[in-house]
Amino acid sequence: MKTTLNINGELKNCDADLTTPLLYILRNDLELNGAKFGCGAGQCGACTVLMNNQPIRSCVTLLKNIPAQAKITTIEGLSQRAQKSMEVDSLSILQNAFIEEQAAQCGYCINGMIMTAKSFLDKNPDPTDSQIRGALDANLCRCGTHSRILKAVKRAALQIKQSKSKPLAQPKKAKESV
Ligand code: FES
Ligand code: FES
Repeated sequence: MKTTLNINGELKNCDADLTTPLLYILRNDLELNGAKFGCGAGQCGACTVLMNNQPIRSCVTLLKNIPAQAKITTIEGLSQRAQKSMEVDSLSILQNAFIEEQAAQCGYCINGMIMTAKSFLDKNPDPTDSQIRGALDANLCRCGTHSRILKAVKRAALQIKQSKSKPLAQPKKAKESV
């Protein structure tokens, strides 16, 4: 069946059976490979994307259960280019924090971690360590890089707070004519 989905702010057409999981549509039809197939059973979080800013497991979210007006965000939609139509890609603060803390070992879980953290930080911009742990509790990491993932989310929270408290740049004064 032909359907249109709002993904990363763009309307995307797909032609899939209504029982197709969103993950398959993202990866097989739309070439959005950031969400990963891990368990395929809603248990690991590797396939996490956001639907209306809430994390969902795309491996068990069937096309028929996605509301018509739903806004889907994948990790590809987090970059500043995706959000501000910039020509050069620029990773979000959260993505950069994961790189700066070297949070990935094999990296398979990381995109799901970032999407879960994104939704969490939007709601709780000043979290405690235990709140971060609780938010990411259901996302599994086989490599055991949890402590670096925790540091990355903390770093991102701090940087996002700092970026919001920066004063806006003042417009330059016009040169006085002589
Ligand atoms: S692949 Fe979806 S939760 Fe594991
Ligand atoms: S970094 Fe390998 S599964 Fe998390």
